[in-house]
Parts: sequence; structure tokens; C-alpha cells
Amino acid sequence: MCGIVGILGTAEVAPHIVDALALLEYRGYDSAGIATLDGGKIDRRRAEGKLRNLRNSLAEAPLSGRSGIGHTRWATHGAPTKGNAHPHVTPRVAVVHNGIIENYRELGDEVTGAGIVLQSETDTEIIAHLITLELDAGKTPQAAVAATLKRLRGAFALAILFTGHDDLLIGARHGPPLAVGHGDGEMYLGSDAIALAPLTSSITYLEDGDLAVLTRQGAEIYDAGGKPVQRPAQQSVASAFRVDKGNYHHFMIKEIFEQPEVIGHTLAHYSDLANDRIAMPEMPVDFATLERLTICACGTAYIAGLVAKYWFEKVARLPVDIDIASEFRYREVPLAAQGFALFISQSGETADTLAALNYCKGAGQTIGALVNVTESSIARGADIVLPIYAGPEIGVASTKAFTCQLAALAALVIFAAKARGTIDEAEERRLVRSLAEVPRHMLDAFRQEEKIKTIAQGLTKVRDILFLGRGTSFPLALEGALKLKELSYLHAEGYAAGELKHGPIALIDQTVPVIFLAPDDDLYEKTVSNMAEVAARGGRVILISQNDRIAEWQGRIESSIELPDADPFVMPIVAAVSVQLLAYHTAVFMGTDVDQPRNLAKSVTVE
Ligand code: G6P
Repeated sequence: MCGIVGILGTAEVAPHIVDALALLEYRGYDSAGIATLDGGKIDRRRAEGKLRNLRNSLAEAPLSGRSGIGHTRWATHGAPTKGNAHPHVTPRVAVVHNGIIENYRELGDEVTGAGIVLQSETDTEIIAHLITLELDAGKTPQAAVAATLKRLRGAFALAILFTGHDDLLIGARHGPPLAVGHGDGEMYLGSDAIALAPLTSSITYLEDGDLAVLTRQGAEIYDAGGKPVQRPAQQSVASAFRVDKGNYHHFMIKEIFEQPEVIGHTLAHYSDLANDRIAMPEMPVDFATLERLTICACGTAYIAGLVAKYWFEKVARLPVDIDIASEFRYREVPLAAQGFALFISQSGETADTLAALNYCKGAGQTIGALVNVTESSIARGADIVLPIYAGPEIGVASTKAFTCQLAALAALVIFAAKARGTIDEAEERRLVRSLAEVPRHMLDAFRQEEKIKTIAQGLTKVRDILFLGRGTSFPLALEGALKLKELSYLHAEGYAAGELKHGPIALIDQTVPVIFLAPDDDLYEKTVSNMAEVAARGGRVILISQNDRIAEWQGRIESSIELPDADPFVMPIVAAVSVQLLAYHTAVFMGTDVDQPRNLAKSVTVE
């Protein structure tokens, strides 16, 4: 999940590499570094922490050269120190790497056995030495890399510069994505088209196992068997447009407030709002006869899938198997012939989700991808791509992508229900209308912000927080807890309210706030029974519900957040705003790094 960029340029490359790294920082921000070739010699600058630290060190000691590679790191092997920052160099090569080398111990023993003293704790440095040993044995750069690649187990994307070869850059891909960019007398390598967008829109995506040999004249690509292959260049629509924060303090809050607009865009693509009808693109499976749907995703995208499971099963009577991709991929799940598997991913690059997709593909499933990045690996592996039109999401914690995923999934549910005959045209119109009202309800939900700030301030004084809900409010409880813990570093748990008595009730005392997501739906009475159990034990109750319901509980609850009167079907999309704002403001009060919380990355390209 690190970010990689490489440039064979016609002018000084370091500033361009830094700009490209800024577009890749969402992949990790533990450290950053650049190596260039100047007069055939490798020089590098590295810095611990955010990219701005690297910018500062480059300002003090600029790097010259027309060939270079850069890296932004999410630490796997080795602490996030300057010493472990990429590029890793030997007298003959500089290497940047995204991924994990699983057999690094045995390869490391071999390297140290050859008398080499390792300078870092990384698996990447070992790759640099292995290539160097092959070069020392007389191989060409390409042959040295090819020989080294054969020995690596694990997942990697690499970019390599060679001392004395100003017109050479080699890239390789086994797992994580890598793209070749074509310029005018210049050539580029990048983890994605977004990073290369300031430089070129002409992109060749490498396939798994590919080795790319770049000179300023072009790229030769070899497949896993070493055979030369043609990979077509395509015009990328990725935008280099780096959205700024405008008047907002953080991208996250800006993205929260963008939700009514981007949900509107998403719904416009999946429905005919003028006629209150669903308008899905042609689907590669027949929902009328589909027996089961498999959904796989990670993190917040998984939670969106969980909400969809409730919807598909209740509204469309379509059974759904949903799993976290990292579990699914190794479970050896038996899958029915002609099944449909749907993968949800904002980035479209999450390694576990991609591996689960490949498993399903191998098992003959038709593949759907619900993604924000339509040029991503997950989109490219799908039979049908369902974009969510959230626009670039910069905050590491997903907000607008989540609600756009929900909006698109809700449209798919209505489409499936119609095809299966579980709803009639009148019900379709009613549900589509309820979806069309989501942006307006969200604007109402924003009005609770000041109240939410007060509650958030109270949360900064506690250590543990519980989120409880039933039905579609259960996944939302999971999302509330996930957001709160990843942003504020407070311990939060989401639970099905009905499970309260099977364990979490033991935690209840005057120090643990319990946040009940209890919209006025058919499970409201059940949820508030659990709330009464908490109140009876002196627990601190925060109720998220409609105004009338909150009024019934005055005196027995500590505080409340009002929900708009949205239809229960779309309530999880609307209520997401409440838990997002709560997590955001708690984090702001705690003084954490809201847009880039510690240890996290936006795109998780290692398993
Ligand atoms: C990371 C991000 C989350 C995201 C998850 C899945 O953990 O921090 O916000 O939900 O990855 O990412 P994806 O791009 O597949 O949706």
C-alpha cells in the first residue's frame, strides 16, 4: 500500500516526483523518499513522517538529475524510521517497493552470508542487494532483475534505477498495481494513473507478473514467462485535480458535507428520478432467477455490504452471503455455478478484495465491482462496473464513498426486487422517491452538528464507548464504532443490540457511554427495550432517533441526536451523517490527525 513513482525525464525530476507522491500519500504516510541519477550516480533524500518533511529536506539539500524514483511508505517490515524509508540503495541500484516479500528471512540470510551488512530492517533492501549480486555476477540490469524476481515470494510492485544507466528504469508487478505512463520523450512508472495524471494521460496497466523496461523512447514489457508482450496504452480519465479543503479544516468534514451532492450524482446514474423509476445499466446476470448473491469487501465498504444484505434479503428476497475479503479468500468457499459476486471498494485496489475477486472468477462467478475508481484493478477484473460517483475521497476514513455505496446498492436492491417480483411498480416508485429524498434529509441531519459537538466533547473524557443497533442500524453501529476508534483512538465497539445481554452488558457502568441507533422503524421497540436495560443499570445512554421518540425518553437518557423523518429503507444512509459527525468532532477535540490517522492508509494494497 505504499506509493511508487518513477520518471525518465527531460528536465530535473525531483520536483515532479514530489508532486506525484503528494497524489499517492493516501497509500501511506509513514515516510517518503526520492533517489535520482545524476551523472550516472545515485543520490537520495529520505524523511520520516509526512511528505512535507521530505519537501523540507529537499529544500535544504536539493536533488538534481533527470531520472528518478520516489516512494511514500506504509510500514510493513521495519519501523517507520528514516533508515527504513525507501528508496533502498546499493552502489549499483536504487529500489522502491510496494508489498511484502514473504521469504525475506531466507533471502536476507543469503545476503548477509555474502558478507553484506544490512542498513535497514526492510525486505526491500534485500531485493536491492539480490539484484546487485546478479549484476556483480555479470548480468545485464534486465537479466539481474528477472533472476531476482524469480526468487521473490509474496506481493510486490517495484521500480528500479541503475548506476551508470541514465536512460533506464525497470518496473515489475506481482500483485499490487503498477502503471506505465507515456510522455513526449519521457516515460513514467506509477502506482496508479492519478499519480501520473500531472505528467500524462496515456497509460499502460501492467498485468500480474509483468516486467517493464523503460527508456525515454518507450517501454518493452515482458510477461511472467519472460516473453515480450504488447499491452495497449489507454487514455486515462484519472484527474490530477487535487481537491483542496476550501474553507474546511479537514478533508473529512468537507467530504461529509459533500454527501447530499454526490449522492445526488450517484442516484442520477442509477435511477430515473423524474419518473421515480430505477434505471440500472444492463446487468450480466438475471436477478429474477439468481439464487444467491456473494458480497465481499473490507473496512467501511464491508459495512456497506452488510447493510445491503439486510436490504437484498428483506426487499428482494435474495439470499446474500457476505464476508470480509481477508477471511473469504482463504475459506475455500464452495460457490454455486452461475453465481454473481459483488465486490465493494472505494479505491478498487484493496489487495484482499482483489484476491477474493480472483477466487470467485476462478470459480466461474460473474463479477460485479462497486467502485469509486473506475480504472482500478478491481474494476478491470469485473464483468460489470458500477461506479459510485463520490469524486476523489481524500480523508483516509471513508465517509462520502460509504453513503454513495449505500445509495448505489439501494438502487440495485430495488432493481433486483422488481426483477424478482417482490415489489410492484407502486412500491418501486415509493422506494425511489425515498432515495431521492436522501440529500434533503442529510441537510437536516447536518443541523444537529452543534449538539453533536457537545456530545463529542464529553466522549473525550471516556475510554470505552458502545454503539448498539438492530436491523440495518446494526451495521451502522459497527460503522459508528469503526469511525470513532480510527479517528479519535478511543476504544469503541459496535454490537447488535440483541447481543447486549450476551456479554457487553457487563461493561455497563457510569463511565461507558452507550450510543443507541434506534430510528423509528419496526425494530424500534426492541432496541429501546435494550436501552431500558442499560438505563436501569445506571448506564449513560445517548439516543439517536427521531424527535418524537427522543421526547418519550427525556429524563432517562443523557443526551440525544435527532434523525430526520426519512423512510426506514433509506435511514442507514441518512443516519450515517450522525455517526460520522460524532467521530469527526471527537477526533478534533482529541487533537488527532483527522485526515491521516496514525497507522492507517486509504488504500490497503498488502494483505
Ligand atoms: C482502508 C480505509 C477504509 C476503507 C478500507 C477498504 O482501511 O482506511 O476507509 O473502508 O480500506 O478500502 P476500499 O478502498 O476497498 O473501500
